[in-house]
Formats: sequence, C-alpha cells, structure tokens
Amino acid sequence: MITVAVIDDEATARKMIARILSQAGYSVEAFDCGNSFLQRMDQEPFDIVFLDLELPDRGGLEILIHIKATHRDTEVIIVTGHGSVNNAVEATKAGAFHYLTKPCRSHDIRLMAERAAEKLRLHRENVHLKSQASEGSLIPGFIGNSKAMQAIFETIVKVAQVNCNVLLEAETGTGKQLTARAIHDLGARKDASFVYFNCGGFTEELICSELFGHEKGAFTGADTRKIGLLESAAGGTVLLDEIGEIPLSMQVKLLHVLQERRIRRVGGTRPVDLNIRIIAATNRDLKELVKQGKFREDLYYRLNVVTIRLPGLSERREDIPLLVHHFIAKANKAFVKDIRGISPQALALLMEYGFPGNVRELENIIQHAVALTEGKKLTPEDLPSRLRKFYPQGWNEEELLSLDEVEKRYIARVLSKTDHNIKAAGRILKMSRTTLWRRIKKYGLVGAPGSKNA
Ligand SMILES: Nc1ncnc2c1ncn2[C@@H]1O[C@H](COP(=O)(O)OP(=O)(O)OP(=O)(O)O)[C@@H](O)[C@H]1O
Ligand SMILES: [Mg+2]
Repeated sequence: MITVAVIDDEATARKMIARILSQAGYSVEAFDCGNSFLQRMDQEPFDIVFLDLELPDRGGLEILIHIKATHRDTEVIIVTGHGSVNNAVEATKAGAFHYLTKPCRSHDIRLMAERAAEKLRLHRENVHLKSQASEGSLIPGFIGNSKAMQAIFETIVKVAQVNCNVLLEAETGTGKQLTARAIHDLGARKDASFVYFNCGGFTEELICSELFGHEKGAFTGADTRKIGLLESAAGGTVLLDEIGEIPLSMQVKLLHVLQERRIRRVGGTRPVDLNIRIIAATNRDLKELVKQGKFREDLYYRLNVVTIRLPGLSERREDIPLLVHHFIAKANKAFVKDIRGISPQALALLMEYGFPGNVRELENIIQHAVALTEGKKLTPEDLPSRLRKFYPQGWNEEELLSLDEVEKRYIARVLSKTDHNIKAAGRILKMSRTTLWRRIKKYGLVGAPGSKNA
C-alpha cells in the first residue's frame, strides 16, 4: 500500500487532505509541524508527502530538501496559499513533484496523488527490471527470461563443458554469435583464442588460404608463410559463420579437417594437428540445403553433434522489456547518458512490432533512441516511424495514464483490429479467453462498435 504523509499546521486543510486520500485507499498519516514529521520519517520513509510550505517550526523548503536528500524516491507535493505560488515554483525546481494552491479541490488532491503514485510505480518497475537484467541471467550479458531462452542457457552451460562441435541454426540477429562466445567463455577453452570466420562470399581458394594458411611460395603473391585461422585458434574455439554459404568443393576439405583433426597449409606437406572446437552458424535451413544437394550430408552430420536453435524475438515477446532495459543501460554507458527507462506507450509499440531483424534490430532501435532523445525517458517519438505507424490514434503521449487505462485502450485496439474475435485477440495478447473476457467486462468494452462476439 502506498504511504502518504500530510504536513500542515492548518487543521481544516490537513484533515481534509488526509480524509480524501484515506478514502482513495492510501495509508495516510497527518502531522501539524515539521519536526514531528521528520522524526517519523527517520523511522520509516513515506512514498508521497503533501507538504505545506509555511510551517511554524521549520521552513517547508528545508524539509523538502531534507526529504529529497535522504529518500530521493519520495514524491513531494507542495501545498501553498495563493500568495506564495512563487515559492511553490521554487520548490518544484528543488525536486518537488508538483504543487497545489489552497483552497485545494478534492479532485486535484486525488489526481496529484494518483500521478505521484504512478511515477513511483514506474520507477520501481524500472529499478526491478534493471536489477533483473544485470543479475538474473545465467550467462552475463545474455538476456532472456522466457522459458525458451532459459532452456537455451541451460543447454549452453552443458555444451560448454563438453568438447563437441555445435551447430547454431537461427534467424539473423537472434544471438548466434553471443551463443558461440558464451560456449567458449564458459568452457575449458576460455583462456585460449576465440576466432571468427565468415564463410559468406569467398572463393574456395580464399577460404582455404584463410582457414589453413599457406607456405611461402605456395602461389604467386605468397611471399611469406601464413598461419591459418584454424591453426591460430590452437586450444580455442572457431566460429564458422554462414556455413551454408561455403562452396560445395570446399565442403569436402572441411569434412576431412573435422574427421582427421589436422590440416595441411596450402603448399605444405607436413600435417599440423589441431585442437579446436568448431561452432558453425547459419541463418539457413541446412537440412533443406542438404535435400537440395547444396550442402553435403556427411558434413552436416559432422557439424551438428549438438544443434541449438535460437527462437526469433517475436516468439518470445516477454523478453522484450528486459532486453530494452539492458540495451538502455548499454547505450547509456556508450553515449554517457542517463536515460531512466521507457514510457508504457513506447514499450507497448515495441511489444507489438514484428522485429524481422530480431534482437539486433531492437538493440539498434534503442541505441538510436537513447542517442537522440532529449527527454529522460524513451517515448514513442523516439522510436522509428515504422513502429509509430502502429501508434493508436488519439493517444496523447503527454497524457499520464494508469497502467489499467493503457491496458484498456490496448485491448480495445486489438479487439477492433481482430474484429472482436475473442480467440484471435487472445492469441495476440497471449491471454486466455477467460482472462480476456474478465478484462472486457472490467473495462466495459462489451458492446463496443462491431463487437459481434461480445
Ligand atoms: N539475448 C540477448 N541478450 C543480450 N543481447 C543480445 C541478445 N541476443 C542478441 N543480442 C545482441 O544483439 C546483437 C546481435 O546478436 P548476434 O550478433 O549474436 O546475432 P546473430 O544471430 O549472430 O546475428 P547475424 O545472423 O545477423 O549475424 C548483438 O549486439 C548482441 O549482443
Ligand atoms: Mg552473427
């Protein structure tokens, strides 16, 4: 329950504010002077404070500064007479949330408390998500609390302990490279090199010389001996990215390397033993390529001793809020900024977007937004227009809404898009029919235009 303190030496005003807030469901304590309040606050901080600026024993501004210095999350609302609005404005500069002028209307008192409570709630949620993002993950910097990602993390930890080849099959931007790196970092090879090679777009000759190296004079232009990537990774891990792009003629050579665990430099005669783990990655369906005769079946089976398939971001939307906070923190560091979080409206847009570029695309969006925003929080205006076109009409970003109101409007929107098909809406919202029905009732969405099933 949200706790509120009301400090006012004027009994009528004090009692009225306290009564209205108690009726609105807050846990309220009233004080007729600054000292008694400060003593109480030292025992237990309040969430919201309604503070009269003119108290007999202490200056209101002094109390405000004390509150903000000791409990910076407490929201202070200044209550002031008509004559001293200037002081109230000063107070908001010193960290007060807002001010009310006497005589206060009950509606304004409730509204002010509501807004302060909403701000507190959002702040706490952000702090909670941030701490989850930094501590909750099994693998540092690899974020995901969805069941699917938790299972992947467990697999990564297990595979890291075993010296087998791994195939990573997943769409672009889902975290293949991050996975390969985690397997390397968590295993016995962590102190040796992690070598990356992208097989896409190279000729067989180039791939051979890059991977196997060459002896001096092996071909025109080879003036010195070159150690290949596989050899240079001695004791470590090699990530062969875009393995599906490797030319067929080259595939047989790679197969031999995997079978014999040794290579011969181009132009060389002496074989060199290899002690490496090979992780191959692709955003194509290798099995399909095998069927089409574009990828050798024997090589496929050599590579996929263990296959890890990372799900696309749209299949694990519940990871989006945590990832957003992770990327805000990352971008804050990179750009030396202090963005505090994201507005519910902006988050709602991200939750709805399809993310063809998966996590990489989300990271880019957040990086861009953090770099360019002028506010303290990311809002829909900070997001690219391809997302904002989903922005519900008549939704004013300046308006502060309760989460209930956001939920109500969003559900209404999904219902109207699905032509009030409860099943389809439930699927999009990931809500059971019963839960959705309960919300529809709660928010009075029954009988909305076009509600066939309602
Ligand atoms: N679960 C995650 N937690 C934190 N960051 C992530 C996560 N997944 C991806 N990223 C970040 O997203 C970006 C893309 O990830 P990564 O390069 O591993 O993807 P990829 O599957 O190799 O993509 P591509 O196919 O385009 O090469 C990176 O900056 C990475 O750090
Ligand atoms: Mg990659």
